[in-house]
Amino acid sequence: MDRNALKSLSYGLYIVSSYKGDKLNGQIVNTAFQTTSRPPTIAVSINKDNLTHECIVASKVFSVSVLSEKTGMKTIGTFGFNCGRDIDKFKEFEYRIGITKAPIVLTTALAFIEAEVIHRVDLGTHSLFVGNAVAAEVVGQGTPLTYDYYHRTMGGKTPEKAATFSGSDAKTEGPHGPSSSYVCTVCGYVYNPATGDPRRNITPGVAFADLPQDWTCPVCGAGKENFEKQ
Ligand SMILES: Cc1cc2nc3c(=O)[nH]c(=O)nc-3n(C[C@H](O)[C@H](O)[C@H](O)COP(=O)(O)O)c2cc1C
Repeated sequence: MDRNALKSLSYGLYIVSSYKGDKLNGQIVNTAFQTTSRPPTIAVSINKDNLTHECIVASKVFSVSVLSEKTGMKTIGTFGFNCGRDIDKFKEFEYRIGITKAPIVLTTALAFIEAEVIHRVDLGTHSLFVGNAVAAEVVGQGTPLTYDYYHRTMGGKTPEKAATFSGSDAKTEGPHGPSSSYVCTVCGYVYNPATGDPRRNITPGVAFADLPQDWTCPVCGAGKENFEKQ
């Protein structure tokens, strides 16, 4: 089987949010899609280790925020490379509580859908939650962020817990560098001196060793000590 065929599937990028008791949580997914029209239903595939999974199982509701191309790496890093058991993901983001009581991320969102779970399909590592859409709203204008744009234009990575993780992701996607490149052991981002980190005003040519001590991974926020020479 040529697993490269799976890589040609197209996706968007979303934040799926839910809650358990007082705890609000959310995570990045690319696996969100409409499953039927009448009634409108929507499905998401969530890793069983994730706090978001625990929240959806407990509350039986979830929201899906459709992200725009303007979404920054900080959003992806917070919601896609950190666990809500370690941080409060909502602290620095705009959100509201929906009619299902699920939180809804609004920062750089174009639209959202709220759903009540009607099926949970056990997929081994993940659960596929299918929900009845009970509310939906367009909240912004712009181009929806796609999985392809995230990888090709933003240089993003997909972590192991994602439903579509490919074992070679960190090696085959995103920027590559010479031997002086350093790889983030948390998310797989590669710092390439030839590219620098333009979003942080690090110009091409700056060696990893010369990055400021407080420089952090642009994808997941990990400190310099988490990087290894490639
Ligand atoms: C581009 C991208 C796509 C992802 N897609 C999924 C997905 O479809 N399903 C999933 O369970 N995790 C996916 N993840 C990983 C979760 O967002 C990540 O494991 C998150 O830290 C879980 O947070 P939590 O423990 O707070 O719920 C994806 C991450 C990224 C960056």
